[in-house]
Amino acid sequence: MMKTYLSIIRNCKVAQRWSFNHATRCALSPSPSFWNCKRLMVRRLCTDIPTEDRNYYITTPIFYVNAAPHIGHLYSAVTADFLHRYKLLQGFNSRFVTGTDEHGLKIQQAANAAGQDPLSFCTEVSERFKYLFKSCHISYTDYIRTTEERHRCAVEHFWTVLQSKGFIYKGNYEGWYSTQDESFLMPSQVGDAKDSSGKEIKISLESGHKVEWMKEENYMFRLSEFRSRLQEWLEGNPRAVQPERFHRAVLQWLQEDLPDLSVSRQRSRLQWGIPVPGDLDQTIYVWLDALVNYLTVAGYPDSHSQWWRAAHHVVGKDILKFHAIYWPAFLLAADLPLPQTIHVHSHWTVGGKKMSKSLGNVVDPLERSQRFTIDGMRYFLLRQGVPDTDCDYDDDKVVKLLNAELTDSLGGLLNRCTAPSLNPAQVYPHFCSDSFPSQGAVAHKGRAVDEDYHMLDAVRALPAVVEQHYDSVQVYKALEAINRCVRQTNGFVQRHTPWKLGSGDGRDQLWLDTILHVSLECLRMYGTLLQPIVPEIADKLLSRLGVKPVEKSWAALDFLVKYQGKDCPFEGRALGPDTGVLFNRLERPNAEKGKPKKAKKATKNDHQLRG
Ligand code: MSP
Repeated sequence: MMKTYLSIIRNCKVAQRWSFNHATRCALSPSPSFWNCKRLMVRRLCTDIPTEDRNYYITTPIFYVNAAPHIGHLYSAVTADFLHRYKLLQGFNSRFVTGTDEHGLKIQQAANAAGQDPLSFCTEVSERFKYLFKSCHISYTDYIRTTEERHRCAVEHFWTVLQSKGFIYKGNYEGWYSTQDESFLMPSQVGDAKDSSGKEIKISLESGHKVEWMKEENYMFRLSEFRSRLQEWLEGNPRAVQPERFHRAVLQWLQEDLPDLSVSRQRSRLQWGIPVPGDLDQTIYVWLDALVNYLTVAGYPDSHSQWWRAAHHVVGKDILKFHAIYWPAFLLAADLPLPQTIHVHSHWTVGGKKMSKSLGNVVDPLERSQRFTIDGMRYFLLRQGVPDTDCDYDDDKVVKLLNAELTDSLGGLLNRCTAPSLNPAQVYPHFCSDSFPSQGAVAHKGRAVDEDYHMLDAVRALPAVVEQHYDSVQVYKALEAINRCVRQTNGFVQRHTPWKLGSGDGRDQLWLDTILHVSLECLRMYGTLLQPIVPEIADKLLSRLGVKPVEKSWAALDFLVKYQGKDCPFEGRALGPDTGVLFNRLERPNAEKGKPKKAKKATKNDHQLRG
């Protein structure tokens, strides 16, 4: 373990002398634990990184404006928002961009069908996305629309660079095209089906969308020239595409045929897009146009490098090919750095089926976040969403999960430990090391039992465990670990029944205070770690504990320092005001007939303890 630990430190280009010496000391001493040391190192390194390397640039895909937002769109946005908030807490300068993808045949047709001019149509739907994101606390720092002037300039410049380097040529394209996916397909990707009137049609085997044969003279991009460079990039950067199964999938695709790509459409067919510079008869392919949005916001072509080299993308699995093959190939052709990471997620289904208007199973994210609260929806999506596999959305599941984990488990714990009946002075109580002696120094017996020491070990190790899962965007695993610890802390309180200790006996009082101190320290860890997931709930929790804003950062994740014999800044401090239960209990959907209901009080036990 020691060897691994030292190698982590040595391999890190920014490891400073302090970190090495300090970490070595920690690893050699029995306390704090190895995990705590690793966490300390990560946090310390963050602030030791030179300013320009502390930039972090995270993007969502830009959303098509042909239909209203659904829960899957919110999931992409919440995932990126979580990463942005997490990086800020770690001390990074993070920029976070989202927006709307407004050009292309699909949008042109949708605007026609709605009897609107394309720009007003786009503005209307783009505003709906913006409103949803604002309402769900998606804290983007820039919102881009591909119909903006700054974007047109960036796309034109990018095109000119590709052309001047000889990667674009005029040719004849003939093949299958799916307007719904705005994607070209190989014959092997196309199958037979019947439409609603029973007519034989061709569809994309992957998306199920209708495809059409297209034959046009347009501009082609020399994609075929990039196969080996893409393979080298992926093989040399095993974490470039995450999770691993998607990384493998891209490498697999690169084994297959990689023909040149058509990157324009005849203007007579597609008017709604950016014209090819110097050829007004052609419109730039919507995916080339859309992908460049990431550069536009970074400041391309004038001042992008500072942010561009810190780029990370969040994308759904359906658009992996565009992000992990076309996009890096375009960037290589333009001599620009490749993205650091492409975080891929799977899809939300409803009743086991893809959401679609015709099936009537589209879940409205705005309505659900009003019904289950914003943090409730954010928590559900990140707790239940497994990036590797599709997940099924179900209202009943939302209610059960939130009631169990936020109302009962976490909310119940906070309620118990801050109840005026147990803590009449409403302060962060004192820790007594005679009652809870450190394990190495059990000269005389305290009142803590083995399970209590196991709980301390688990909570002390938690930040490193959470960090590892947050970094790889396996958020559900991090939340699982946090929940396990919350249950252990509830078990600790339950085991020692502090409500039976307030009899006036001095030693009982010391032990009661110690139980509360330890529990509040656990809660402080949970609140701090949960901030990127449920910002409002975490803030409410930490404020109730009297934690100041500067003490909410990642750097303040030092757990139970009193146990290590150090001074604890919280001890004796007044708790923050009681602003009510942490998360109101939700009614089961059947009982409430689709309407939001007033909250019940928290658990029975908590109810007895309040007031
Ligand atoms: N406009 C393109 C992206 C261009 S990025 C340069 C696009 N737009 S989209 O609106 O169709 O999809 C946006 C995001 O929502 C994608 O990440 C997509 O995977 C995600 N989702 C769409 N439906 C989804 C689910 N049912 N479940 C989860 N996410 C899904 O593609």
